[in-house]
Amino acid sequence: MLILGIETSCDETAAAVVRDGVEILSNVVVSQIDIFAEYGGVIPEVAARSHLEVILPVIDRALSDAACSWDDIDAIAVTHAPGLLGSLLIGTLTARTLAILHDKPLYAVHHLKSHVYTNWLNVPESGNIPLRNAPSLPSSRGSVAPYLARRQICSSEGYFSDSPAFPLLALVVSGGHTQILYMRGHNQFEIVGTTRDDAVGECFDKVAKILGLPYPGGPSIAKAALKGDAGKYHLPHPRIEGLDFSFSGLKTAVLRAVQKDLGLPISHPSHDLKNHLSQKQVADFAASFQKTAVDILIEKLEMALEQFPDIQSVVVAGGVSANKVLREALPEAYFPAPALSGDNGAMVAAACYYEIQSGVKPVDPYALNIYPRVEIS
Ligand code: KG4
Ligand code: ZN
Repeated sequence: MLILGIETSCDETAAAVVRDGVEILSNVVVSQIDIFAEYGGVIPEVAARSHLEVILPVIDRALSDAACSWDDIDAIAVTHAPGLLGSLLIGTLTARTLAILHDKPLYAVHHLKSHVYTNWLNVPESGNIPLRNAPSLPSSRGSVAPYLARRQICSSEGYFSDSPAFPLLALVVSGGHTQILYMRGHNQFEIVGTTRDDAVGECFDKVAKILGLPYPGGPSIAKAALKGDAGKYHLPHPRIEGLDFSFSGLKTAVLRAVQKDLGLPISHPSHDLKNHLSQKQVADFAASFQKTAVDILIEKLEMALEQFPDIQSVVVAGGVSANKVLREALPEAYFPAPALSGDNGAMVAAACYYEIQSGVKPVDPYALNIYPRVEIS
């Protein structure tokens, strides 16, 4: 089954053709990062206009890269929730029109489901990056260890496969979300932990702004942190009970620590602090912040693993899953190829394939709606 996946929920215009939910035949992503780097963040109206300009060439290219015509495509999948309203509209209206024009079944996919399903995609033949970290590497982490042992047992009994085994926990870490999902099987999602305020990716972006590092903050903090001392500044972990997260306090803690380090009052405007910071201070703050953010994620994941002793695997997904420190902290988890961590069309097609396998029916192309804020279910 060949599925054309279309993704426009934020600032990437993307389309891909995927065979049977695993084999990427093409994967075209046009990012608007260059435009928004200048502004330090996404401007929704500009994002929607940019999607409109490139979406048809992106889809044409996805078809031609996959060497297929419309006749070969079995279904169209599009992100309809959550995301920026104008961005979602461009993707869904395009997909609806194409589904009607070419008489194809149309499926509407939740963005976080798509991120999770990057972990079932094979590496493209041309790709030189491994799809995911090698599973079952030794880990020194306390509560993750029993889970590791379980995976090895599975493996020796011969029913271990390279796809994540169920039930599993998915840690979704993106610019808009920070959630722990429990998956009993394909297309069965239960939110067991979520952020009460900012998402972790958003926190990377905001801290980068304070430090004067370019948008998007995740990659620029990771880069600056390479030369920094992660133990230099001690930043507090939020005291949130259960499996929920909070990241707005961490951003404020960085702000206060920067002001203190510079000997400036807390009334000093945050946008001016970058003008006073040395490169060494920026690197140390970036490294200390990154370590704290990753530690907070791991802490909650470990709590979740204790709470759900039946878990067979852990998958990580979303833009922040590209982070190297996070990857190194979880050698036993599944990660997407770094190139597939951010938004792309292949993940939409993959998620759609497993929805179809689970009995999900196509939507009416004349009536499909968008849901900018709806939760995964
Ligand atoms: O999944 P994504 O591409 O878009 C959303 O669905 O939100 O995630 C984007 C987020 C941004 O906040 C970006 O700063 C973050 O992912 N990000 C990273 C890294 N690469 C991207 N965060 C930490 N480390 C990275 N290497
Ligand atoms: Zn995303």
